[in-house]
Amino acid sequence: PETITIQELANRMSERAVDVIKFLMKQGQMHKITDVIDADTAQLVAEELGHTVKRVAESDVEEGLFDTPDVDENLVARPPVVTIMGHVDHGKTSLLDAIRKTNVVSGEAGGITQHIGAYQVTSPLGGKITFIDTPGHAAFTAMRARGAKVTDIVVLVVAADDGVMPQTVEAITHAQAAGVPLIVAINKVDKPDANPQRVRTELLQHSIVVESMGGETLEFEVSAKTGQGLDSLLEGLQLQAEILDLKANPERSSEGTVIEAKLDRGRGPVATVLVQRGTLHTGDIVVAGAEWGRVRALVNDVGQNVKEAGPSVPVEILGFNGTPEAGDRVAVVESEARAREITEYRTRQKRERAAARMGSAGRTLADMMR
Ligand code: GTP
Ligand code: MG
Repeated sequence: PETITIQELANRMSERAVDVIKFLMKQGQMHKITDVIDADTAQLVAEELGHTVKRVAESDVEEGLFDTPDVDENLVARPPVVTIMGHVDHGKTSLLDAIRKTNVVSGEAGGITQHIGAYQVTSPLGGKITFIDTPGHAAFTAMRARGAKVTDIVVLVVAADDGVMPQTVEAITHAQAAGVPLIVAINKVDKPDANPQRVRTELLQHSIVVESMGGETLEFEVSAKTGQGLDSLLEGLQLQAEILDLKANPERSSEGTVIEAKLDRGRGPVATVLVQRGTLHTGDIVVAGAEWGRVRALVNDVGQNVKEAGPSVPVEILGFNGTPEAGDRVAVVESEARAREITEYRTRQKRERAAARMGSAGRTLADMMR
């Protein structure tokens, strides 16, 4: 239900909160400044104090921002977006580093210039694959809760010398809850005490049946240390992606998700964004969470400035007026006025939610003191 705190209502009318409280008191309602009242009551107060009321529902402000359907004839194949998950120290980061290094060494433009939360590599079969550098299980869940489905495939890393561990199981649960196919990478097979077969058996207990045991889940023995099996893993990912038949329309207005964001001393707010639909261009006006900006520059995963970024392409956006948050969804809007309307609305919502939390916390505390 729509609500507002007395403080915020007073602010928006440029009235004193005490006058709002007095008015409500005359109506027989006792309130303090941090209390939350419903929209109908707020409207009554505002009209009584001589203001005109324009109620803006979320559905109006956010109308048409996300998930507007793609038209079939404009769909073209897009690279898969892959997230690596697994237990602590099983080699997620090492694996990503090794994949990226092999790829860069094998003739990609540029080099590893900086850490970026997402990047693209080319599989030995020629297709591109986008990797998201482990957002961590909590972040994965948080993103999903906020409606940001970014991952097409999960690579489950299991160390061959350690086997299935609690966070391995957690990752399986996350992938299943998200309805995302899973590929198993049995890592550290170079180690003398590696036992890949044990991993396969343990996975059975969590209803993951790998191919070599007659199941449908692709599994690859790999070593981030020696590079063994990495090409096969990339090929497997591309094949899995082809089965998923991933498509997007590059022509439409762009949507994406913030993978990570920071305030850079020299460059200002920098958001690493995964483009999911349409094509993002320099000069576009973008909103992400409660922030907006005009795209001043787009920087790709090897540090080059680019003019545009299409579906499944990870890119840094420069030009935001503030720093958005990881998991915020990004959309291109048609004007600065629209960007302001949306972000001001979201800022208000954020403030009201925070105030409502404080209000109820205050009440609880007061109740306890009685
Ligand atoms: P967290 O991010 O802490 O969860 O760990 P992680 O899964 O990213 O593991 P990380 O890549 O940091 O690797 C953990 C340790 O395992 C490091 O000491 C790596 O050098 C080592 N390691 C990773 N992959 C391999 C491998 O294939 N073979 C061997 N021998 N060691 C590996
Ligand atoms: Mg790591």
